[in-house]
Amino acid sequence: METTHTILIQDAARMDKIPSDSIDLIVTSPPYPMIEMWDGLFTGQDKAVDMALKNGEGQKAFELMHRMLDPVWDEAFRVLKKGGFACINIGDAVRTIQSNFAIYSNHTRILWHLLQIGFTALPAIIWRKQTNAPNKFMGSGMLPAGAYVTLEHEYILVLRKGGKREFTKASEKHHRRQSAIFWEERNFYFSDIWFDIKGSRQELHDKELRKRSAAFPFELAYRLINMYSVKNDTVLDPFMGTGTTMAAAITAARNSIGCEIETGFLDPIMEIKNNIIRLAGEITENRLNAHLSFIAERTAAGKPIKHRNRTYGFPVMTLQEEELIINELTDVTQTTKKSLRAVYSELPQPNFCQNEVPLPSPAAGPVSEPEIKKKTNKKTDLQMKLF
Ligand SMILES: C[S@@+](CC[C@H](N)C(=O)[O-])C[C@H]1O[C@@H](n2cnc3c(N)ncnc32)[C@H](O)[C@@H]1O
Repeated sequence: METTHTILIQDAARMDKIPSDSIDLIVTSPPYPMIEMWDGLFTGQDKAVDMALKNGEGQKAFELMHRMLDPVWDEAFRVLKKGGFACINIGDAVRTIQSNFAIYSNHTRILWHLLQIGFTALPAIIWRKQTNAPNKFMGSGMLPAGAYVTLEHEYILVLRKGGKREFTKASEKHHRRQSAIFWEERNFYFSDIWFDIKGSRQELHDKELRKRSAAFPFELAYRLINMYSVKNDTVLDPFMGTGTTMAAAITAARNSIGCEIETGFLDPIMEIKNNIIRLAGEITENRLNAHLSFIAERTAAGKPIKHRNRTYGFPVMTLQEEELIINELTDVTQTTKKSLRAVYSELPQPNFCQNEVPLPSPAAGPVSEPEIKKKTNKKTDLQMKLF
């Protein structure tokens, strides 16, 4: 299996090179209006924004900034296939403009526009980004009233173009089943509050660049891609930044297109090819190890596990996971100045195959903890040799 990854260095408000109805999934995060780090980007495009900020007209500046993002959402709608999802990470902004403190609700304004142009809104995800900073409660006190709560979350708006995507042919159904996620992953991926994504895991670039670009965590993009697309689909990020969505798409065996207005990001994006095989290997291994640990714990607790994955031979909770395979990324090459090709193995990782081990039987009573640990450790030893 192969995937291709294309970078467009241009304004996403006119993605003429992308045909209409050609994209399966959009995963993105725009520059956040009214967050100071993005003021320059907005004032550079429209001097009226600068004037509004200087005149203390916060709401006017906010609206003008969003009017610059609206054409990108229009393009997103055009290029998305019917049944395709759009996942938009956005945070609200709190800001004092000429001594008036207010919240600027970016997620509401974006959602409003998306509904106007025909998207269907689905339940959104709250990404809880808890802060333990010592100044967390600055601006509030013990005396009522008049303080405000600390903003510790962002949104992932989830939308769809048109009705449900259909998988009708036998080959499409099989492909979908191969793209399945584990039952225990489903149980926390499909919750409407994500507490576990911290932002520092699996760094693709140095911290400074990630901060300057406001990059979202790899895990966020990777999770959304696994939830809302199947292998070989095409994922678009119109606000590509450092290329986190592209890296996640490569890892998840999806094609990708990214659009970025800043030419300076091209080199850092292309650097992804140097460490993505190692990173993807770690992700895959962690997911498979986590699954084996889950199975071990469940078996130890004497709980039933009725199914077996046909590729790896390990137990799984449901019929839907029986054909699941996480394809290993084996090669990434640069094909042009702005594109990459990734190659994947069609075979399961041999060190996770356990076709010889019988399904744990709850009837035989719970398996003792040390016995399970022994099995899992054997695998870890094998992995240590391989990596
Ligand atoms: C919040 S950052 C995205 C960060 C990205 N998710 C990552 O992980 O690196 C928004 C990006 O959109 C880019 N951008 C802003 N306006 C744009 C436009 N009209 N077209 C394309 N890119 C744009 C900015 O230069 C910035 O890199």
